[in-house]
Amino acid sequence: MDNKNLTRRAFLAATTGTIAAVATSRTPVYANAGKLAINGGKPVRAKKWPAWPQWDKSAEKHVISILRSGNWYRGQGNTVTQFEKAYAELLGAKRCVCTVNGTNALLTALHVLDVGVGDEVIVSPYTFIATYNVVIGSAALPVFADTDPETFQINPDTIEERITERTKAILPVHILGLPANMDKIMAIAKKHNLIVIEDACQAWMAEWRGKKCGTIGDLGCFSFQNSKHLPIGEGGAVIGNDEELMDRVMSFHNCGRPYGSVKRTSGYPIIGTNRRMTEYQAAVGLSQIKRLEKDTALRNKNAEYLTSRIKHIPGIVPHKLYDGVTRCAYHLYPFRYKKEHFNNAPREKFLAALSAEGVPCSGGYGPQYRDGLIEVALNSKNFTRSFPKARLDKYRRELNFPGNEQLCKEAVWLTQNMLLGSKSDTSDIADAIQKIYENRDKLA
Ligand SMILES: Cc1ncc(COP(=O)(O)O)c(C=O)c1O
Repeated sequence: MDNKNLTRRAFLAATTGTIAAVATSRTPVYANAGKLAINGGKPVRAKKWPAWPQWDKSAEKHVISILRSGNWYRGQGNTVTQFEKAYAELLGAKRCVCTVNGTNALLTALHVLDVGVGDEVIVSPYTFIATYNVVIGSAALPVFADTDPETFQINPDTIEERITERTKAILPVHILGLPANMDKIMAIAKKHNLIVIEDACQAWMAEWRGKKCGTIGDLGCFSFQNSKHLPIGEGGAVIGNDEELMDRVMSFHNCGRPYGSVKRTSGYPIIGTNRRMTEYQAAVGLSQIKRLEKDTALRNKNAEYLTSRIKHIPGIVPHKLYDGVTRCAYHLYPFRYKKEHFNNAPREKFLAALSAEGVPCSGGYGPQYRDGLIEVALNSKNFTRSFPKARLDKYRRELNFPGNEQLCKEAVWLTQNMLLGSKSDTSDIADAIQKIYENRDKLA
């Protein structure tokens, strides 16, 4: 059935089999399907989206007072300590140690859990490059499991087949701020005696069965980089409930200085590095914490509304959430685009058309394991010396992830700030997608 010439009201009725959805939608803006903005028509939206990051005056005052005090490093102040306490409390974790960024939080977690030369770590291929860079940086082999295209998360049913006698850890990512399937991941880890480090660098306040992401595995890592929901510019944190392990995190990130249960051995120093957060960073973090709960609630509300609107549009497949998900962070709002419902117009054309309608979007991650970086790593001294050639050859043969490949072709992402507007702002997104659907014959 061709919906091209239907009014939007009739379209909704036709595609959902019910008229109920109409009651919740706005006045049609393109009842006669309009002309696509990409083809010179009027865009659905001309207004700007909420800016990011946003901050309040309390951050300015605090940063200036630290500047004037001359106490810029955590050893001379207590702002980092305050921020660590506040963030641990917010997440319901016993402890938090802040780091310079999320990458170094992950490197620290891997180090204190003794993941290193010759070990293998199971990771998701659908993630920011840092997730597997830190494994390579720890001289361990990042072994990819496949992605579940419906949830955008690591497919837990493909993890066990990747476990070898060298596997030491699973590094699940709550990618895009949607929780990974922690029940299955924790059960596999328990069965095979593996460590779990959660990459929650996009998942502040997301929850799995009421527990905050990052507090479920052995350690959880966060990023506070500029684009993040708790933005500091740069910044990161390791979260945990094991006091002794967190003492090791604190000591290691502070040049190996003794801390708590980490005692001086034969003399100073113990092995360590410097990944300390500055007092200024923590001051910005403290002010950003104040808005996180409210922003998270709004993102979830708008995301739910958006899903309810777009799920009826043929060829638009909203992300699914696992049963255990009790809250999302929505660092990105993802859905999938099926070109066969859009006159076979390639995804890039759809992305361009949606952007032209005033709804900026992107296609997200590509199949990064084919980008050359992995091959360089496999040929490096670290890997050729610590892994048998047969293992690395098998690894190359197994770089094949159908779920991930499909997702990389179909994904569409919207950024988190677009979920911080009103219902009518969110409605613009659904209207734009539907307008494109109705004009799909003019896309190709
Ligand atoms: C999933 C994921 N892991 C790790 C990182 C690394 O964090 P940072 O940029 O703070 O080093 C990021 C940052 O974007 C991320 O998105």
